[in-house]
Amino acid sequence: MKLAVANIKGGVAKTTSSIYVAEAIVHRGGSAIVYDADPQSSASLWADAARDNGEELGFEVRPANLSTLSRLGRGESPEAWQIVDAPPQGKLLQAAIEASDFVLIPTSDSPMDLQQAWAMMDEARASRPAAVLVVRAEPHTTAYRQTINALAEANTPRFDTIIPKRQAIKKALGSRPHRLYEYRDLLTELVAIAKDLSGGRAER
Ligand SMILES: Nc1ncnc2c1ncn2[C@@H]1O[C@H](COP(=O)(O)OP(=O)(O)O)[C@@H](O)[C@H]1O
Ligand SMILES: [Mg+2]
Repeated sequence: MKLAVANIKGGVAKTTSSIYVAEAIVHRGGSAIVYDADPQSSASLWADAARDNGEELGFEVRPANLSTLSRLGRGESPEAWQIVDAPPQGKLLQAAIEASDFVLIPTSDSPMDLQQAWAMMDEARASRPAAVLVVRAEPHTTAYRQTINALAEANTPRFDTIIPKRQAIKKALGSRPHRLYEYRDLLTELVAIAKDLSGGRAER
């Protein structure tokens, strides 16, 4: 499965979600590689800081450029998940989408952020299946309810799993996440999607 984690908005947990999903895959006995395609290089920084702290992440983080993305997964075991932490704009974002089987679009539970999630969704779905993941959610707030309702009214595909706002996740940068929280449920959904996508391909 090749998964792009993308949004034209910054600070919406793209890197956090890439790292947690990869760690959840490893926890489930699978293997994953995270491709850091964002010039901010937060995923690489995360892996380096974890190593400095004496705890390796359970997977490799590689820097990615246009060439890397055009060859995504080549030479790797077909079972290994290729996860691209995409940049917010430009050719690399386009390349990340084109390299992927599926686009995961994290968005906060703010109705204002939805505009960018929808713009990203339109861009992604022109070529790939995609779904929104609501992250950093505060389920007892009006903003949260409005976000969920707006997604439903617009028939926007979204993951059933919601990632709540958590201090432990916020503080996880530079360490290996030990508790995966709702990202385990998210992975269950992603595994089902991967199965559907590969089944579809086999039929063709
Ligand atoms: N579930 C969460 N709860 C609380 N803070 C979070 C959560 N997910 C991400 N964050 C924080 O939100 C900020 C942006 O996340 P990041 O993954 O760097 O976003 P992006 O890669 O989209 O720029 C970071 O400070 C991160 O620690
Ligand atoms: Mg990032």
